Amino acid sequence: MLRTHTCGELNISHVHQTVTLAGWIQRSRDLGGMTFIDLRDRYGIIQLVFNMETHPELCEKARGLGREYVVSVSGKVTERTNKNLKIPTGEIEITVERLDVLNPSVLPPFTIEEQTDGGEELRMKYRYLDLRRNPLKRNLALRHQMALETRKYLDSLGFMEIETPFLIKSTPEGARDFVVPSRMNQGQFYALPQSPQTFKQILMVAGYDRYFQIVRCFRDEDLRADRQPEFTQIDCEMAFVTQEDVLQTFEGMTRHLFHTVRGIELDTFPRMTWQEAMDNYGTDKPDLRFGMKITALTDLARGKGFSLFDSAGMVAGICAPACAGWSRKQMDELTEFVKRPQVGAKGLIYIKINEDGTIRSTIDKFFSEEELRVWAGRIQAVPGDLILILAGDPAQTRKALSDLRLEMGNRLGLRNPNVFRPLWVTDFPLLEWDEETRRYYAMHHPFTSPKPEDIHMLETDPGKVRANAYDLVINGVEIGGGSIRIHNRELQQQMFRVLGFTEEEARKQFGFLMNAFESGAPPHGGIALGFDRLVALTGGAESIRDYIAFPKNNAGRDMMIDSPSEISEAQLDELGLQVKGKSK
Ligand code: AMO
Repeated sequence: MLRTHTCGELNISHVHQTVTLAGWIQRSRDLGGMTFIDLRDRYGIIQLVFNMETHPELCEKARGLGREYVVSVSGKVTERTNKNLKIPTGEIEITVERLDVLNPSVLPPFTIEEQTDGGEELRMKYRYLDLRRNPLKRNLALRHQMALETRKYLDSLGFMEIETPFLIKSTPEGARDFVVPSRMNQGQFYALPQSPQTFKQILMVAGYDRYFQIVRCFRDEDLRADRQPEFTQIDCEMAFVTQEDVLQTFEGMTRHLFHTVRGIELDTFPRMTWQEAMDNYGTDKPDLRFGMKITALTDLARGKGFSLFDSAGMVAGICAPACAGWSRKQMDELTEFVKRPQVGAKGLIYIKINEDGTIRSTIDKFFSEEELRVWAGRIQAVPGDLILILAGDPAQTRKALSDLRLEMGNRLGLRNPNVFRPLWVTDFPLLEWDEETRRYYAMHHPFTSPKPEDIHMLETDPGKVRANAYDLVINGVEIGGGSIRIHNRELQQQMFRVLGFTEEEARKQFGFLMNAFESGAPPHGGIALGFDRLVALTGGAESIRDYIAFPKNNAGRDMMIDSPSEISEAQLDELGLQVKGKSK
C-alpha cells in the first residue's frame, strides 16, 4: 500500500498509530542527529522525523532527498514537543521507519510554498508545479464548490443542463471569433462560440423552458486581468418570464453561492438604471463599496473667464472626505494619475475645504471664495474635505472621474476585497453609435428586445431606445449580463435592419433563428454570469488567472504547452489552407 492516510488528515488523535503516507518533499532540515522533512500532498503538510541514532541508514537516505521528490514513508504518529499550532497537523510528526523513493525530481525553478518567488510567466510555464501550491489549490477547490452549488441551486429550480456545440457559426457578442478550418468543406470555417446565445434561444423555442450550462466560451479580444480568450459562463435562459423573474432567480443564485461558500448573507441587491450609473459614477459598473459620487458643476463653472472650463462640455467633481490636508506631493501624484493616457484628463483641479473654514484652490484667480462655497455646498463637502474636479469632453471626463474615484477608493482603503456590494444595472441603451464606422452596434447583442414604449423610435432616433437589458455588477466588476429577447420575426428583422444588415445578410447568418421564431417561439430571456470572474471575486482577487487551472498569458499564449504554434505543411495542405508552402 502506498498510503493509508493523507498528509492533511492526521492529528493528535492518531498518536501511536502506524501509518503510511505518500507525497512530495517540500523542504528538509538536517540537524545532525535528526533530519526533519515536510511532506506535502493535496490535503496538507506533515513533518517527518528521521533519527540518526535509531535508524542511521534511513536518516542517510533522507538526507539525500531533494525538493519535490515523491516518496512513500511508514512510521509512528508521535506527539511533537515543539508544536506548531498554525497548521492542522502541527501537534504531531511521523517518526519514520521505512522510506521509499517513488520518483526523484529535478530542482524546481521557484519555491513551491504559500508565497512563491516565481514570476507569472515562469509559474505558467511550470503550471504543474505552481498548482501544487496551497493558494492555487484553494482557488480550484473554491471553483469546484461554486460549480457544484450552482448546479444544485439551478437543478432545484427545475433548470436542465444541456450541452450546445463548440463548432458553430459566428455569434455576435462583440468580439472577434476564433475560427476552425473545415477539412471536409474546404474553404469553409467553423467559429467557436463567443457564447451559446442562439442555441439557448432555440432551446426555448424547443420548449426546454429552463436551461443552463456551465460552458466554455471563446473570444478573440485584447486580454486583461479579468479577460481570457477562453473563459467559462454560467449560461441560462428561461421562457415565459419577465425581466423581474430573471433578476429574482439570479439574485437568489448569487446569494446562495455567497451563503454556501463564504458564509456571507448578501442584502437585497439595489437597482440602478444605466443613466443613473453613468451620471453618478461615470461607469456602467459602479463599485458601491464607497460613496464619492460624481457631481456636475458645469453650470457653475462656465462663463467666468477660465478657458479650460468655458471650452469644456462637462465640468464635474468628486468629494474626497477628510483629504484637505493632503500634501503637495500627494496632489502631484493624483495629477500624474489623471494625465496618464489610459485616464486621459488634461489636468486636475482641486479645492481644499480646510478645517478652519477657509478655502484654497487651484482656480482662486477665477473664482471667489463665495463662489467656491456654493460648489462645496452642491458637492456636499464639509470642512476637512477635498474636492477633485475634471473638465473636458463629457464622455471622456466621466470615464476619467470614474478612474479617479476608484484610485481614491484604493488610496483611502475603501475597496476591501472581503466586502461585497452587488447591484443590478438596468435599462441599458439598445444601441451604441460607433463614430469610426459611422453605424450603430447592439450594446448587448442583436437579440435583445427594446423597451416596448421606446420601439417607436427604433427607425427615427435609434440612439434613444432603451433595452430590456441588465447587468449584475459586484464591487465594480461586470459579473453578468442578460436581456429579455426579441421573439418575433418582424421585430428581429427590423433590428437587423437598424444594425445595417441587408435582408440577405441577416437571412444568411441568422435565418435559422428567424425561421424558428415562426414556429411558436415563446417569450424568453436570460443571463450569463462570468464564472471565472465570479469565483475570483468570491475568493477576494481581481485577476481570474489563478482561478483557472491552465490560463493563457496576456498575449493569448499557453506558456506550458507553447500554443498557438505552427502546424505542418501536410496539415495545412489537408485543410486546403496552403499548397506547396504558399497561402491560397
Ligand atoms: P456577455 O457578453 O455580457 O453576455 O458575457 C457574460 C459575462 O461573461 C463574462 N466575460 C468574460 N469573462 C472572462 N473573459 C472574457 N473574455 C469574458 N467576456 C465576458 C463577463 C460577462 O458579464 N450571451 C450573453 C448573455 C445573455 O444575454 O444571456 C453574453 O455572453 O462576466
